[in-house]
Amino acid sequence: MKIDKIIFATGNEGKMKEVRMILADLQIPVLSMKEAGISADIVENGTTFEENAVIKAQTIAKYAGKEENVVVLADDSGLEIDYLNKEPGIYSARYMGEDTSYRIKNANLIERLAGIPDEKRTARFVCAIAAAMPDGTSAVTRGTIEGIIGYEERGENGFGYDPIFYLPEYQCYSAELAPEEKNKISHRGKALELMKEQLRNMIN
Ligand code: IMP
Repeated sequence: MKIDKIIFATGNEGKMKEVRMILADLQIPVLSMKEAGISADIVENGTTFEENAVIKAQTIAKYAGKEENVVVLADDSGLEIDYLNKEPGIYSARYMGEDTSYRIKNANLIERLAGIPDEKRTARFVCAIAAAMPDGTSAVTRGTIEGIIGYEERGENGFGYDPIFYLPEYQCYSAELAPEEKNKISHRGKALELMKEQLRNMIN
């Protein structure tokens, strides 16, 4: 199958940069929604990361037109804290309200884990990447990175829940990693690498 272009369904420039870097060796143009001239309000009403990613990709694919061999990619990600029954999970962006600052969200999660020992503070970032294929089918991949919820906020890099996500393997918080380092080991990086292999198999 031939793929003429890939559209990544996000308005986030940071994500676009990361996605372009990882998919570069496929040698297929990767466009943002804005570059593709698409804007859409997407209702994320799925019950899993995978469902939400597929909903986003298939919704945008409807706008992308059928004249070309276009693949639409979309992601859905979040933080699962085991002690909190995997909260905030698919509601990570909406936790305590979309407009609430991460200072407040992070402080709240640390507070909810007060007195809980290291071994019960396990958590992971999860990312699902979905592809809406030119023939109407979907493919989906998942990447995760394991960590524990820290006792305070640390680090200036990253975004969202990075300052409370401690990586035992690297002995630092996610927000203390340089962006290139984080991309190499992140849930999003892993899911995208898996998706890249699926796309590579399709075009060969
Ligand atoms: P999405 O961009 O709609 O998938 O929302 C994902 C939400 O999960 C973000 O708004 C963050 O709250 C959280 N999240 C996902 N990935 C990360 C990460 O790498 N670091 C910190 N927070 C993340």
